[in-house]
Amino acid sequence: MSYDFNKVVDRFNTKSVKWDLLEEIYGDKDVIPMWVADMDFEVPEEIIRAIKKRLNHGIFGYSLSGKEYNDAIINWMKQRHQWNIQGEWIKFTPGVVPALNFILRAFTKPGDQVIIQTPVYHPFARSIKNNGCTVVKNPLKYENLTYKMDLEDLEKKITNRTKILILCNPHNPVGRVWSKEELTALGEICLKHGILVVSDEIHFDLIYKENKHTVFASISEEFAQNSITCTAPSKTFNIAGFQTSNIIIPNDKLRNLFSIELENLAINGPNIFGCEALIAAYNSGAQWLDDLIDYLKGNLDFLISFIEKRIPKIKVVKPQGTYLVWLDCSGLNMNSEEMREFFVKKVKLGLDDGIMFGEEGEKFQRVNIACPRSTLKEALERIEKEVNKL
Ligand SMILES: Cc1ncc(COP(=O)(O)O)c(C=O)c1O
Repeated sequence: MSYDFNKVVDRFNTKSVKWDLLEEIYGDKDVIPMWVADMDFEVPEEIIRAIKKRLNHGIFGYSLSGKEYNDAIINWMKQRHQWNIQGEWIKFTPGVVPALNFILRAFTKPGDQVIIQTPVYHPFARSIKNNGCTVVKNPLKYENLTYKMDLEDLEKKITNRTKILILCNPHNPVGRVWSKEELTALGEICLKHGILVVSDEIHFDLIYKENKHTVFASISEEFAQNSITCTAPSKTFNIAGFQTSNIIIPNDKLRNLFSIELENLAINGPNIFGCEALIAAYNSGAQWLDDLIDYLKGNLDFLISFIEKRIPKIKVVKPQGTYLVWLDCSGLNMNSEEMREFFVKKVKLGLDDGIMFGEEGEKFQRVNIACPRSTLKEALERIEKEVNKL
């Protein structure tokens, strides 16, 4: 391994949302933060070197993305995702959540309906509501600790006001890496009803080895023409602070409408350091990423075996991708408020309450395992100690 993922780095006082808001969010800076999706690992050395080199230049005027930036994205999509894209399809945005909002502004009118598959990443619902649209839930089916899409329910929910389906691929928080067959069935329904698929694939590089991610738009030309794919190097390489993401739109008409929206909002080129970070990450970060995935898999296996042996009241929904693990805590017999109180005040962990992702998540907690194994072990021991007192 080129990087020692066991290294514990002090992140306090670094303007970190994950670490420097503990007092505000949990009322206690001694909880172990295992919430927001960012990792406690340093980025690949190549990124640091590229930033230092650009920093040493000393002039930081207006920046543009350019060919080197686009080529890095094109090659990454081809090599890691077997997806052939063209440079002009790529539109820069300062984040995927901002992009979702721009998409909603560009392609919906107030009162239109947008479908999401709950429990799902909570800013989806917020963005839909903030843009005057109605959230239509197509909840996932939960059986035997796994989740599936409910396409029968999806067809029933569609009306002539339904404009967009926001797909979470891979799915946060349940960790499903949707199969090509599942995505094809979903895509066919959306095509049939003229619903645009917005595929948030921000976690698409973080896939455990026995699984295979399929980019929704790569399935067929028809799907490519009826979709917008949201990507970023931010989760993959732990560079969310650079606010650099790329929205890929093969359809000319959709891309032109999206570009007008960006222009109206004066969203221009990427931050100069985000640009350097992306190029270094995509051109030279593949080995680091493979090592990271191995380490995360080690963390996941450690968590699963610890919980199975020592905390049987909690069940793990085993993720196929992402470093977010969805814990079924129904065996604790607590409502969501009691559970939050229990995990924060007694266990002293800062997790994400399942209810944030929709009412279907009420009995769950989401834990971020992208931390050194020693931190994860300490967290699990804290849970074990308190759960066994119940
Ligand atoms: C599914 C999903 N989309 C988007 C984001 C955030 O994207 P950004 O920081 O680029 O707005 C996250 C972060 O956790 C996420 O899990």
